[in-house]
Amino acid sequence: MEGKVRILSVILLSLAINNWVVRVMGKKEGYASELDPRVLKLKKEKLTHFHLYWHDTVGGRNPSSVAVLPSLKNGSTLGLMHMFDNPLSVGPDLKKSELVGRSQGIYASTALHQVGLLMAMNFAFTHGKYNGSSITILGRNAILQRVRELPIIGGSGRFRFARGYALAKTYYFNPATFDAIVQYDVYVLHY
Ligand SMILES: *[C@@H]1O[C@H](CO)[C@@H](O)[C@H](O)[C@H]1NC(C)=O
Ligand SMILES: *[C@@H]1O[C@H](CO)[C@@H](O)[C@H](O)[C@H]1NC(C)=O
Repeated sequence: MEGKVRILSVILLSLAINNWVVRVMGKKEGYASELDPRVLKLKKEKLTHFHLYWHDTVGGRNPSSVAVLPSLKNGSTLGLMHMFDNPLSVGPDLKKSELVGRSQGIYASTALHQVGLLMAMNFAFTHGKYNGSSITILGRNAILQRVRELPIIGGSGRFRFARGYALAKTYYFNPATFDAIVQYDVYVLHY
C-alpha cells in the first residue's frame, strides 16, 4: 500500500514538473518552441517619449553626414544617398546642450517628383539608463512637410520588442550648406 502511494506521488510530481516545464519552457517542436513571455521577464509594456534634436551637418570641415551617391537624374534628387553619424541632443543648440546618443544610418532620395527620403537609422543612446540601448527607425521622410511620421520597427537592450513612431519637424535649415536640425518626438512602446 505504502509502495503504491509512493509510486503514485512520484508520478504526480513528475507530471507537475512536466506541466511546469511545458508552461515555462514552451512546447518544443524540433527547432522551435512556444515560450511563456515571463521566461524573458516581459511583464508590462510601457510607453516612453523622447524629445531630441538631430543634427545633420553636411557642410564645413567636420560634416557628420556625407553624400555616398549623387542624384542620378537631372531635375530630381532621386538616387542621392547620405550616410550619417549625427549627434542627438536634448536641446537644439549643440554647443550648450547635453548629448544623449547618436543617430547612425542612411537616407536616400527615393522620390521622383518631390523631395522625399527613405530613412534607415538607429538611435544609439549613450546616456543614463538607456546607454547601450538602441531604437531602429525605418520610414519615409518628405522633408518639406511640417511634420513627418516614421515608424519604429524595433530596438535592442531596453528597447527589445519596441514599436512606435517618431514625429520629425525641421527646426533649422541652412539652404546654403544644407545643414539641418530636426526635432524628433519619439513615442516607443517597450518592456
Ligand atoms: C544635367 O543638366 C546640366 C545642365 O542643364 C547638363 O550640363 C548635364 O549634362 C545634365 N546631366 C545629365 C546626366 O543629363
Ligand atoms: C555607457 O556605456 C559605456 C560602455 O558600457 C561606458 O563606457 C560609458 O561610460 C557609459 N556612459 C555613460 C554616460 O554612462
